[in-house]
Amino acid sequence: MKSPTDLDLGNPIRVAAVRELDPLAADLACYTLRQQNAEADLPAMTAALRDLTPAVGRVAAFSTEECVAAMRDLGMFLGSIRRHEAEPLELVPEALPVLHELGRRTDMVPRDTVHHYCTWNPVGVRQRMYTGDVQEAYLQESVRMVFPHLRAGLELASTLSDMPLEDPKFAQLTDELTTHVETMVTSIDMVVSHVSPEFFARTLRPYFEEITVDGRVLLGPAAAQVPLWLIDEAVWASDRSEPDYAEFLRDSVPYSLRRWRELYDHWERVPSIVSRLVDAFGADAEEAVRKAPALRLSAEALARLLRVIVVFRGRHLSIARKAYDADLRLYPVGSGGASVELLKQIIDLTRATAQLTGARGRKQGAAHGGERRSA
Ligand code: HEM
Repeated sequence: MKSPTDLDLGNPIRVAAVRELDPLAADLACYTLRQQNAEADLPAMTAALRDLTPAVGRVAAFSTEECVAAMRDLGMFLGSIRRHEAEPLELVPEALPVLHELGRRTDMVPRDTVHHYCTWNPVGVRQRMYTGDVQEAYLQESVRMVFPHLRAGLELASTLSDMPLEDPKFAQLTDELTTHVETMVTSIDMVVSHVSPEFFARTLRPYFEEITVDGRVLLGPAAAQVPLWLIDEAVWASDRSEPDYAEFLRDSVPYSLRRWRELYDHWERVPSIVSRLVDAFGADAEEAVRKAPALRLSAEALARLLRVIVVFRGRHLSIARKAYDADLRLYPVGSGGASVELLKQIIDLTRATAQLTGARGRKQGAAHGGERRSA
């Protein structure tokens, strides 16, 4: 049986193999980077990035897994140099073609992402960290622990997206999806217990600033890239969202893996599950449920899923509000390019959808309708 670390995140890159790899012989440089960051030694980290950057021709001999590991390690220096207020590719322009090539080979953006920083990062003495602070390790772990579950959850969402809501299996698969999403709640609880808003706001957040790669602005490897929003997309957001959230989602998709980008493209073109649910109940909910009793179970299961997402988002919003409090924050918006106000809008939308769906699961509320954004 596969352990979670063997999961491939939906593409052939094997997580465990990547963590083992050190194709640039960067173990020591990555460890020393923590000290360089503490001392704000920009010249030293710039020199280290220059030394580590391979000739483009060498990348051709790397396996795909080695390309991922190389991007992970160069990425630590990109974020660190940016944190000390320089554009890394202005200081080390020879890294530009290498980033392009690594991005091309791995079918990802030409910089490191949250997958590199968390999932593909070794644990233990070789762990790549900007600061070495245990709070940073907790944040990395909080993301690492959810990815196998989101991967499985997205495949379930894919199945559910094609399945009639009248199918008796729909509720059961939705409950399985909910179990996977519950790890997001465990994850945020761990962060709330072990990471102070001050540490995030003042120490870690600056490492996630965007950098410019060939004129393209690319976001840092922050948790906002965790594709909970893609589960939303299948369940309700493809046709029941608001423009700001739709834009955030669209902007986040490029940082994900190919399989997930394909799911997004597909879900953009089909009715969301919740819209199908509303249609299935129609104007006469009693009659719909009489004909297909499983409909009510499907609605209840979807409402349970949405309520778990609301619980995650409620706790997440609370720590985000503290970290982005005007007295504490160094930046007005999150490293994903969005504001705490958007998080509030997202949770309000999720809550409204949970209520709409829950009403279909209860007899008395079953007749109330809901408009979707588009057909
Ligand atoms: C101190 C901890 C954290 C803070 C201050 C924080 C803050 C934020 C902010 C401000 C956003 C808005 C988008 C942006 O970044 O521009 C965001 C989005 C997001 N964050 Fe966090 N975050 C934290 C931890 C986490 C963790 C541990 C996870 C998941 C494991 C997570 C998952 C997400 C997701 C999925 C989004 C996209 C919006 C959504 O789906 O609700 N965050 N976060």
